[in-house]
Amino acid sequence: MKFFVDTADIAEIKDLIATGLVDGITTNPSLVAKAGGDFKEIIAGICSIVPGPVSAEVAATDAAGMVKEGRTLARIAGNVAVKVPLTWDGLQACRALTGDGTMVNVTLCFSATQALLAAKAGATFVSPFVGRLDDAGQDGMELVREIRTVYDNYADLRTQILAASIRNVVHVKQAAMIGADVATIPPAVLRALVRHPLTDKGLEQFLADWRKTGQGIA
Ligand code: E4P
Repeated sequence: MKFFVDTADIAEIKDLIATGLVDGITTNPSLVAKAGGDFKEIIAGICSIVPGPVSAEVAATDAAGMVKEGRTLARIAGNVAVKVPLTWDGLQACRALTGDGTMVNVTLCFSATQALLAAKAGATFVSPFVGRLDDAGQDGMELVREIRTVYDNYADLRTQILAASIRNVVHVKQAAMIGADVATIPPAVLRALVRHPLTDKGLEQFLADWRKTGQGIA
């Protein structure tokens, strides 16, 4: 499973790409507003340090406007994935932009039938929002499972399932077990993946015992 990081914070991205674990980035208008600064400059900055796909979302809601904005965003760098919402207009824009050879991430997916439409519109990625469904009292990960089943039924559907709105370590584990192609993970959750109290405890004990040997390794 590929790891994308869900942030528009360049300092955070620089820190995380040093781990070699980051395969791409997703942003959205809320994350851009939080980061502050010029949208296109932010995307250009991220694309210059991350070789993988960098999602940048359109703000128009009509197909022609989305295509126009999408083409502007795609010109920023070859690794921009234009994000469009899962609406009729978004699907039309998806088809036009993929026809240009641009990667498209169809976002705000909340049902398996929506995901089927995104795949038929040629989306590179579809983003089911797991945490937001959980927040609404549904099982968000069940949606990822359903989309996996639908896509696996048809070899011609090559859209990648990008598990989004990931809120915790368990979400990441479940997405990987289901076979999501990508999970986009907030920085704090990515950092939390490495932590386990028994790792810390075990390391502490090994180091204490090692000190007793009085040896060094050099
Ligand atoms: C995905 O591309 C979105 O940016 C993101 O995962 C939304 O997450 P949220 O529901 O925590 O805002």
